[in-house]
Amino acid sequence: MAASSQVRICLLIWLIGIASSLDLVSSANTAVTPDSNQLSPGFYNLKCPLALPTIKAAVIAAVLKERRMGASLLRLHFHDCFVQGCDASVLLKDTTTFKGEQSALPNVNSLRGYDVIDNIKAQLEKWCPGVVSCADIVATAARDSVVVLGGPAWDVRLGRRDSTTANLSAANSDLPSPFLDLSGLIAAFEKKNFSVDEMVALSGAHTIGQSRCSLFRSRIYSEQNIDPAYARSLQGQCPRTSGVGDSNLSPIDTTPNFFDSTYYRNLMNKKGLFHSDQQLFNGGSTDSKVSQYASNPLLFRIDFANAMVKMGNLGTLTGTQGQIRKVCSSVN
Ligand code: HEM
Ligand SMILES: *[C@@H]1O[C@H](CO)[C@@H](O)[C@H](O)[C@H]1NC(C)=O
Ligand SMILES: *[C@@H]1O[C@H](CO)[C@@H](O)[C@H](O)[C@H]1NC(C)=O
Repeated sequence: MAASSQVRICLLIWLIGIASSLDLVSSANTAVTPDSNQLSPGFYNLKCPLALPTIKAAVIAAVLKERRMGASLLRLHFHDCFVQGCDASVLLKDTTTFKGEQSALPNVNSLRGYDVIDNIKAQLEKWCPGVVSCADIVATAARDSVVVLGGPAWDVRLGRRDSTTANLSAANSDLPSPFLDLSGLIAAFEKKNFSVDEMVALSGAHTIGQSRCSLFRSRIYSEQNIDPAYARSLQGQCPRTSGVGDSNLSPIDTTPNFFDSTYYRNLMNKKGLFHSDQQLFNGGSTDSKVSQYASNPLLFRIDFANAMVKMGNLGTLTGTQGQIRKVCSSVN
């Protein structure tokens, strides 16, 4: 008796999962306009109805195991999209004859979450072989990560295909450095067709995750526009001299496991971790947007979600372009 009612509850949960993945429940009221680039949220409804529930379950499990993984999966999507588009190029591992993006300066010993994506892909290859692209898995996992950590939800437009190439030099040149000034940040995002306001919204991703000492050392020892107590607390984990301690981790935000808008309040209190973060509130043209997001968390959530949809549309392969990889780390 107990067993059969358990089965019924499981079935119900499963059906809700399917229904929500079919956009019958969660997105009934959101207008879904087709993109010029042909992506659509319902792309897998008939082709692989278990795709979205499988990804969501795997992301929840990964984040329960390690909270930071949510941040890592979000960053993985960003580093995919900013380099020749959201085409899973970042997942391709180096071989003797192929040099991918994973050894690029912003990625090496830094980018994480590859295993989580590989594991999701392996599950989906059992349910629906050759159907779900690695690029779509990354995009969906990024959204699910943000949601699990308390951030906004958005409909992920789907139907991306996977690249057969990667571009190491583009990864080195197009991913913004934490040592950039405001003008450099604006230029890096402008190159991908983002407005300054969208750049400020996307930067709010630094509300979750961790960073290595080598990337903010110069800020905490020699910059003036930093809260002294905040700098001192970071110095405890990040010794002045480079070398030992370079890879020591510190939280990227004061609440690194929650997708909230404290990032912006911290900037206003001179508690940005990276030089680049603090550039957004340093007496320049982006100050007003930062104050707005600090005082209006809901506005941040809406703008972040919209900017993520736009980022997810960067340079996508569709139709018969590229391929659906069997394994995300290598081409077919
Ligand atoms: C505005 C320009 C940006 C710069 C200069 C920048 C730079 C960085 C750096 C240096 C790290 C630490 C890496 C390490 O410790 O190895 C980091 C972490 C992170 N970045 Fe950014 N980033 C930027 C924008 C973004 C955007 C647009 C997103 C996502 C939409 C994002 C998401 C993240 C996340 C979630 C982490 C933490 C990752 C983890 O804990 O594994 N960043 N970023
Ligand atoms: C790789 O990226 C560089 C720098 O953005 C670009 O000049 C080059 O054309 C790209 N290579 C290929 C094969 O797309
Ligand atoms: C930005 O927009 C221009 C004009 O529509 C387009 O040609 C270009 O490919 C876009 N760049 C990116 C990175 O999407």
